[in-house]
Amino acid sequence: MLRAAAHLLPLALFAPLVLGGAACDGGDGDDASGSATAGTSTLLDEVDGYRGWARAPGDYETPLVPSQGVHGGFVDIYVNDVVAEALLAEAGTLSEWPTGSVVVKDGFSDAEGSSLSLLAIMEKRANGWYWEEYSADDLEAPIFSGSPDICVDCHASGSDFVRAFKLP
Ligand code: HEC
Repeated sequence: MLRAAAHLLPLALFAPLVLGGAACDGGDGDDASGSATAGTSTLLDEVDGYRGWARAPGDYETPLVPSQGVHGGFVDIYVNDVVAEALLAEAGTLSEWPTGSVVVKDGFSDAEGSSLSLLAIMEKRANGWYWEEYSADDLEAPIFSGSPDICVDCHASGSDFVRAFKLP
């Protein structure tokens, strides 16, 4: 178990997500934040309010879908505006999710959604997907971040790494 000395940085980070495309063409260093705004922020800081976002399409429009994967028994999956807009594209016109795409997943251990067990986030940056996963016990520091093989390998079979839904 990773118990990092909490970096309590409730900084007001005004969603640099949409600007992601412009922000990171340097490509220097993988594990530092790709955004120019804040070196120590986590994706979780950036996605504040994600439970108000659109739900992922298809089966995931309904809350608390039984997980097919390793992400807790029942999942809620949310997409940001970049993904929501990409989903409206004409069929066959997108070969990958645009830079700035973010998908957040809550994994619950119970079908009522009262017990969060983990939280996973993926963000499409100019140099590829950036991943984070948290145990619900400690939302201050991710247990995985960056591009861990464990995430990438299993998600490689997805639609540009997204498992729950497909590119239009
Ligand atoms: C053994 C396979 C597997 C591994 C390992 C895995 N995932 Fe997933 N992931 C899935 C599946 C399957 C889904 C589809 C939703 C569901 O059934 O839970 C998913 C969904 C997601 C989603 C919602 C978007 C999407 O792709 O559908 C996020 C975000 C996510 N995973 C993050 C992660 C992170 C971060 C890691 C690494 C710490 C990780 N996953 C490791 C199988 C996996």
